[in-house]
Amino acid sequence: MTGRGRFITVEGIEGAGKSTHIPVIRHFIEARGHRVVMTREPGGTAVGEHIRELLLEPREEGMEADTELLLMFAARAEHVGRVIRPALAAGCWVLCDRFTDATFAYQGGGRGIAAARIEALEDWVQGDLRPDLTLIFDISPATGMARIGPRGSRDRIEGEKVDFFERIRDAYLERAARHPERYRIIDGEADLATVQARLAGVLAGLY
Ligand code: TMP
Repeated sequence: MTGRGRFITVEGIEGAGKSTHIPVIRHFIEARGHRVVMTREPGGTAVGEHIRELLLEPREEGMEADTELLLMFAARAEHVGRVIRPALAAGCWVLCDRFTDATFAYQGGGRGIAAARIEALEDWVQGDLRPDLTLIFDISPATGMARIGPRGSRDRIEGEKVDFFERIRDAYLERAARHPERYRIIDGEADLATVQARLAGVLAGLY
């Protein structure tokens, strides 16, 4: 294709099934003749993957919410500048496992940071770059926690309590309700075949 590619992001709480469904989304886009760059946040660059480790390794003493927020955007600045913008400019479609909606959900809804502060960083780091489409896999935190397994094996964010994930889920759903043109919510509670059929239906209606 010619011109700018499209920017598609995939979101959901832990255990929502993103990693199962992202290859299907990729296949769908490629089957329509587009080149796909698949990437993730936090991460997607060498510096970003280092920042990811800092963010996710469990630590007794915790981390300031603002530190967490700023590290997310530090990783994002690298990712936007070095991977996402160049890929889109080259006509590739970018399929990203989480992006700034995760910041509004986790650091905003989860940690309680005001949306206006996140919006300021969003404008600074991204300029006018926003996803063209965001797919949210929606499940209850109880299902998510059951899927990701025992607390002892979880990373720093996965180790939070269920009410943290309730706030995150609510924040995702609120954002989607406010901008329905950009979001598609896929109910991820059902068995795999049912969720994949729902995903196929959503994608078929889009492109
Ligand atoms: P992942 O394990 O789904 O790749 O996501 C890594 C974790 O980082 C997950 O717990 C969500 C969290 N996260 C944020 O808190 N804020 C963000 O902006 C992003 C991109 C991820």
